[in-house]
Amino acid sequence: MDNTIQIKDKTFVVSIPETDILREVERVASEINRDLAGKNPLFLSVLNGSFMFTADLMKRITIPCEVSFVKLASYQGVATTGKVKEVIGINEDLTGRTIVIVEDIVDTGLTMQRLLESLGTRRPKEIHIATLLVKPDKLKVDLDIEYVAMRIPNDFIVGYGLDYDGLGRNFKDIYTVINEE
Ligand code: IMP
Repeated sequence: MDNTIQIKDKTFVVSIPETDILREVERVASEINRDLAGKNPLFLSVLNGSFMFTADLMKRITIPCEVSFVKLASYQGVATTGKVKEVIGINEDLTGRTIVIVEDIVDTGLTMQRLLESLGTRRPKEIHIATLLVKPDKLKVDLDIEYVAMRIPNDFIVGYGLDYDGLGRNFKDIYTVINEE
């Protein structure tokens, strides 16, 4: 089989080919073009995982807009709070702006919840969420995710920006891990 790849200890097989991904990205772009026309949205792409989705999405956005990139930095919080994620890289003034968060995948939703909290303190007018993927069965928090390219099962995936231990982001298709039997 040549539609499999090996990354470290895991084998992956193509589960969503590039043509299928791009068809859904196109659909999401037209929904955003329709809904946010006249609002000069600021797309905030969450690095690293969403770089490929962001590029393909932005090529299909035809309304006036801006795009910028943020990162979530994990650091050890004081006392008992454990890991805290801080949003870094926002240089724009978000006051009164229409924001579209561009994410690769919403899994438990905790990362997205943290992002919404953080961006909310900067007084934007509205915040929308656009994500390439959602694993609906793993969602732990109540999120209003308006723009979803694809819903997938719980399995671990790589490719099209997503990684396994830093590897696999460069593949144009999405691959799902094959359970060792
Ligand atoms: P959440 O906070 O549980 O929603 O996790 C979101 C983050 O986990 C994403 O931005 C990804 O970086 C990572 N992630 C979740 N599932 C996968 C996967 O199947 N493959 C690669 N990364 C994943």
